[in-house]
Amino acid sequence: MKLFAHFRVANICAMLAMTWVIGYQVTVARCESQKAAAAIGSKRVEALIAAMSIDEKLGQLTQRPGGMRTDDNPEVAHAKREDLKREVREGKVGSFLGAFGAEYINDLQRVAVEESKHGIPLIIGNDIIHGCRTIFPIPLAEAASWDPALVERSAHIAAVEAAAMGTHWTFAPMVDICRDPRWGRVAEGNGEDPYLGSIIAAARVRGFQGDDLKASDSLLACAKHFAAYGAPEGGRDYNTVDISMATLFEVHLPPFRAAVDAGVGTMMSAFNEINGVPATANRFIMTEVLRSQWGFDGFVVSDWTAVTELVAHGYARDDAHAAALAIDAGVDMDMTSQAYRTHLAKAIDDGHLDIRTIDDAVRRVLKTKESIGLFDDPYTDPELHKKVILCDEHRGVARESARRSMVLLKNDGNVLPLKPGIKKIALIGPLADNQRDMLGTWAAIGKAEDVVTIRTGMGAAVGDEVAINFEIGCQIEGGDVAGIQKAVEVARASDMAIVVVGETAGMSGEASCRSNIDLPGHQLELVKAIHATGKPMVVLVASGRPLAIPWVAEHVPTIVQIWHPGVEAGHAVADVLFGKVNPSAKLPITIPRNVGQVPIYYAHKQTGRPPSDSFFTSKYSDVPWTPLYPFGFGLSYTKFGYSKMKLSQVKMKPGESITASATITNTGDVAGEEIVQLYIRDLVGSRTRPVKQLRGFKRVSLAPGESKTITFTLTESDLAYWDSNFEFKAEPGKFVVSIGPNSVDGMSTDFELIAE
Ligand code: BGC
Repeated sequence: MKLFAHFRVANICAMLAMTWVIGYQVTVARCESQKAAAAIGSKRVEALIAAMSIDEKLGQLTQRPGGMRTDDNPEVAHAKREDLKREVREGKVGSFLGAFGAEYINDLQRVAVEESKHGIPLIIGNDIIHGCRTIFPIPLAEAASWDPALVERSAHIAAVEAAAMGTHWTFAPMVDICRDPRWGRVAEGNGEDPYLGSIIAAARVRGFQGDDLKASDSLLACAKHFAAYGAPEGGRDYNTVDISMATLFEVHLPPFRAAVDAGVGTMMSAFNEINGVPATANRFIMTEVLRSQWGFDGFVVSDWTAVTELVAHGYARDDAHAAALAIDAGVDMDMTSQAYRTHLAKAIDDGHLDIRTIDDAVRRVLKTKESIGLFDDPYTDPELHKKVILCDEHRGVARESARRSMVLLKNDGNVLPLKPGIKKIALIGPLADNQRDMLGTWAAIGKAEDVVTIRTGMGAAVGDEVAINFEIGCQIEGGDVAGIQKAVEVARASDMAIVVVGETAGMSGEASCRSNIDLPGHQLELVKAIHATGKPMVVLVASGRPLAIPWVAEHVPTIVQIWHPGVEAGHAVADVLFGKVNPSAKLPITIPRNVGQVPIYYAHKQTGRPPSDSFFTSKYSDVPWTPLYPFGFGLSYTKFGYSKMKLSQVKMKPGESITASATITNTGDVAGEEIVQLYIRDLVGSRTRPVKQLRGFKRVSLAPGESKTITFTLTESDLAYWDSNFEFKAEPGKFVVSIGPNSVDGMSTDFELIAE
């Protein structure tokens, strides 16, 4: 009874604190409520709003699938497209998704512009996630490059190709922070860290949108999924998100804020609920935070049927209620559910909804259409795509991006790069001569036939000088083990073996969550059998998520995480294996030893009993408390030494900045690039702080024997966080600064932030 009473008091306190925080946020927001309303549009936009009927307005807020499903027979498909054109002619649709090809899109556009009453052009959105036809490595892999300029370039190429195919708008970047590799969509994001995630998010926005949204090679971007979609309970897609306001603001919102600051034109509301209120009906995040506090002035689209899913959530009584809740929360466009155009006119007639709410949403959509130049130039040159799609330049960047994202996890005895003198290589595994799975999830209009497999890429690199003897060994999933023996024979007859294992493209991505993150099927047996031959051996892991590979990590001397590398997979792998490129990528997410360690991430709290050899501490008794490979980890073919760490001062006053520097030396025999990382730790806070937080990184290129001093500047805002009063500020006290090659190793020193 006493315990129960105590529990209730604690809960009530927590609820009060939360109410206070929300109350505080809302008060701030209400004072600025003017900002949340869509500011007045151009004369054209205002004239259109004045002239449109309610149904036509709701049409602008309606997005429909583009009628391109190939499983219909031609007659049915034709009839469906004619129906869609009729809807456009009647002003019932403002946008399509999943429509590809300049000719088809121009055809729909002609109906909108020339045959509908107001001639408002359509905006066509598509999932251009990591390339259009030239498929780049999956986003998680690109994040491993820690190279925002390269990420920006690949996003720009995706924009060039997609725009040439008639697309105006991409549902990317996905900026959800994810600390759970079971979640299939971890492949689409930038990993576990809000700092790295924010930098990559902004780079992708810049890459897609460019400097001029009206340019023919620009794609309107959409930061998704707002918000906290990457934190579902148990890593199960669409599942409940129940997190503190502090975690929401510190971990999950920063990349969205970075996207807004980079000028992202649209946002997508998430499927999940956040602490009891589904994101798609969450006025607090969708309007108060996004518009009032951050000043976002683009429009928000719901996720696919997320509006009517409010009913299944148990948040709306029916579709009509759902539509009213979503638009009132700040979701301007309804992706595919049709609830807006079906129900909102009645809500206005009945006095349940203010027409100004609809007008604001329409204004945002029309202003966006205007901002990307659709009113002036609604059509796409149907010849353009022939010049750009999958051109050599694009393939070149895809190759660069892939090799820069491959993480060297282990290289005992320097098996890599492969040495001259090797005459026969056994190339083994279900992903070694595989085209489809190299593309990864969400491969837009990418085609398996475009992919250079690892077998082909290696063959091209060695010509006739080295024999590449391929044997599949086993399938990725299921299948029999008969092939393993054949693979063993091939390995025995070769000088060394390269074994490519991992996941299919479909094992990650939307709804593709896994309760087990070991190597699927019989692949570990295959690796063990090849290892037993005693031949020198390399394992390449091709996957959309971190996989738990403790046996491989312990026994196999050389491991490279290659992710799903895209169309240039084979060339990029060959570049890394033969040393044309020295790997420099670093993990954007922790690799656990087993699924039971999840969630495991570097920026965890210390707890009152941090893990140690002592018994009563926070750890599992059946597995070490450390991860298999920590965040930020990645090796090179050379070695780097860290020395002479210095701070510019030991005390810092508010408003001042402090510099931290260290000397990095290439102590090996070949040139290489190192990504030098800076972490801070706030030792005492009015709320407890993580044991480390990334606050800077720099790439340094060093010849053998060369040293360079790398300097970082820390300002007060780098030290700030949402304190116990939910104010974003730095608290006086001691801060530890670490500079190192990953989130575990490196040198540390400290300074004190003193009160004025
Ligand atoms: C996904 C979004 C995607 C949309 C349109 C949804 O199921 O969650 O990320 O943009 O479909 O394809």
